[in-house]
Amino acid sequence: MIKVGIIGVGTVGSHVVKILQENEDIITARSGKKIVPIMGIVRDTRKKRDVSIPLSSNVDDVLENPEIDIVIELMGGVDEAYQIVTRALKNKKAVVTANKALLAYHRYELRDLAGSTPIGYEASVAGGIPIIKALREGLSANHIEAIKGIMNGTCNFILTKMMNEKAEFTDVLKEAQALGYAEADPTFDVGGFDAAHKLLILASIAYGIDVKPEEILIEGIEYINSEDIYFAKEFGYNIKLLTIAKKSGNEVELRVHPALVPMKQMIAKVDGVMNGISVIGDRVGETMYYGPGAGGSATASAVVSDLIDIARHQKNSPMLGFIKPLEKSGLTLMPKN
Ligand code: NAP
Ligand code: HSE
Repeated sequence: MIKVGIIGVGTVGSHVVKILQENEDIITARSGKKIVPIMGIVRDTRKKRDVSIPLSSNVDDVLENPEIDIVIELMGGVDEAYQIVTRALKNKKAVVTANKALLAYHRYELRDLAGSTPIGYEASVAGGIPIIKALREGLSANHIEAIKGIMNGTCNFILTKMMNEKAEFTDVLKEAQALGYAEADPTFDVGGFDAAHKLLILASIAYGIDVKPEEILIEGIEYINSEDIYFAKEFGYNIKLLTIAKKSGNEVELRVHPALVPMKQMIAKVDGVMNGISVIGDRVGETMYYGPGAGGSATASAVVSDLIDIARHQKNSPMLGFIKPLEKSGLTLMPKN
């Protein structure tokens, strides 16, 4: 049996508990072990919640609990989450996280600290789409020429509703928040930062880029108005927040910005909370990944897949998968302007 503690039992955390309890049969069959959530950490233990595990507001109840094998970090934020993940790793507990902001800033430090202790982060990019596994494992024989697409469900949900239903930006943002798609601070979504965090994670796997968000071009969707939408439609375009990594010679270009996409292109048809990502490898050519990019259940599906992986390969886990840092890979970052 593997016992897990969950730090953050909100939108994603509560679905992790549900999946572990309701899909226990298939999870046990696939991992070879029963995976049991035994403790959840929240800020407010008095809040009504639809989860059936013991809850505490003291992180020590997970981090210092010798029975717990895996710590799942689903609280969000950077500094406190970093302290918690660091403590978990120092206590030799495996970690699973969906926190792309944390990894955007600390992925290499955490990789180095973890050593052979597993860190799973499938849920940190594109919600339910197994894009990390695809890039790190399925395409590992390829030089990656480009990764591009839609990596923020909230922005795509907003743009789709503005485009198809003439909805107002602020109303749709509220809807995305109510559905559990948006970050605690939605500026991360609409400002393009969340997509940038995801891009840096993918770029680390593809290129060994040790780059911080401040070093890349990031533009959000907050200034897109009904006039932009009207003219885009008029000329046969959709507006999408694109997230792009492109290698040209020895340079890697990383950027996030809204763009006009011709309606006939596949990416223009990725609507609502869905994400769509194209990865081009030098041997495989273009591959496409499509699915729900946010939401409790879809994201929890990715979290639990990491738990199953860790349960299967407990003693052998170079989980982080980032290749050598940029300076050692011979690649340089293209200047952002
Ligand atoms: P959420 O609904 O806001 O849940 C956060 C949980 O963490 C809550 O249970 C909260 O407690 C707890 N928490 C926060 N700060 C804490 C602290 N200092 N001490 C103890 N508990 C604390 O967030 P979420 O949407 O589940 O997202 C969690 C993580 O997953 C984030 O890193 C996010 O970026 C990532 N993620 C989310 C999605 C998505 O679609 N929502 C998708 C992919 C990745 P209370 O309940 O008491 O407030
Ligand atoms: N807020 C994020 C989004 C959650 O909307 O894409 C998934 O990472």
